[in-house]
Amino acid sequence: MNILVTGGLGFIGSHTVVELVSAGHTPIIVDDLVNSKLEVLNRIEKLTHVRPVFYELDLCEEEKLDMVFQAHPIDAVIHFAGLKAVGESVGKPLEYYSNNLGSTLSLLRRMVAHGVKNLIFSSSATVYGTPPSLPIKEDFPLGETTNPYGTSKAMIERILSDFCKANPDFNIALLRYFNPIGAHASGELGEDPNGIPNNLMPYVTQVVVGRRPYLTVFGDDYDTPDGTCIRDYIHVVDLAIGHVMTLKKLVQNPGLVIYNLGTGKGTSVFEVLEAFEKGTGVKVPYKVGPRRPGDLPRLYANCDKAFEELGYKATRTVEEACRDAYNFQKKNPNGIE
Ligand code: NAD
Ligand code: UD1
Repeated sequence: MNILVTGGLGFIGSHTVVELVSAGHTPIIVDDLVNSKLEVLNRIEKLTHVRPVFYELDLCEEEKLDMVFQAHPIDAVIHFAGLKAVGESVGKPLEYYSNNLGSTLSLLRRMVAHGVKNLIFSSSATVYGTPPSLPIKEDFPLGETTNPYGTSKAMIERILSDFCKANPDFNIALLRYFNPIGAHASGELGEDPNGIPNNLMPYVTQVVVGRRPYLTVFGDDYDTPDGTCIRDYIHVVDLAIGHVMTLKKLVQNPGLVIYNLGTGKGTSVFEVLEAFEKGTGVKVPYKVGPRRPGDLPRLYANCDKAFEELGYKATRTVEEACRDAYNFQKKNPNGIE
């Protein structure tokens, strides 16, 4: 199938493009490079021996986006494009709402205009807010989001659900990612944040290659076995494969579907550091600091629905993800240049 991949040069998008090619699909990438580099396209070509068609454009520029739909018969869209830095979103709410909502609305209008009826959207476990119990299931009520990034995801989910009710012949999947980490095993693709990383794994890998002196563990006094927060870390390649499997099901299944993409297993920050040492032989220097406002002690997914309906199960371990993330950072100490 011809798959339009928005944000296809970003962290999750680029890994998904590689899996799409290996599953026999033809990805067409749209990205405005606001948080990625053109070099990623060369890396994709190196890994797949295919250079996907690429359009450098902002999805909010609807007329230009229309030209992409005119130029290619598109079967489905995977919509990764969006701004994703939680802290930054608090200071720049308008940018986050305009970009994340605006790009989705313009994409939906172009899909309607061109009769493209299959869409996968990158949502986040953040939409659950504080869950009533664990593990988190898809039918849990949506919780309160605490920052414009998270709110934009919750709003887009709502928009897509209203849209699907009004357009019952559309097939839409909301994929709620837990914590994507790791990198392509080749070390060619990986997570390459601008500035100081907000997320745990890129911070760790930057510490071990000497770009930062130590990791600050945000609190070791939580009500968890070792006092540090627990998350559900999923290898980015497993996550990418989840999109390919969702695609297969999506095209046969009208309506809106929601899947958690995680592993179902909780891992604490200290356990991540242990896994890192096991997987790489490198000890991560760290200091324990205060809690980060907004962090919840435990979050992990129930992944039964994706397994039962898609046959999907993440198989890579946190240790493998640490090894791959380290390999990427070693090969690209200053990120993708
Ligand atoms: P990323 O920043 O690496 O990739 C997003 C890509 O979208 C970037 O290449 C960026 O240049 C592009 N982009 C942004 N706005 C655009 C626009 N208006 N037009 C065209 N391109 C645009 O992020 P990622 O980690 O790969 O995340 C992909 C998606 O998954 C995002 O929607 C993100 O919110 C969501 N998500 C990510 C995580 C995570 O931890 N990485 C967790 C949950 C959900
Ligand atoms: C964060 C966001 C969430 C977003 C997700 C994926 C917050 C409060 N939440 O989730 O909205 O969907 O990223 O992008 O920002 N940690 C440290 N030291 C660090 C960095 C992280 O100890 O330098 C700890 C955190 O306290 C947390 C764990 O590592 O317990 C994972 O953190 P992170 O990677 O930022 O993910 P989340 O907090 O789950």
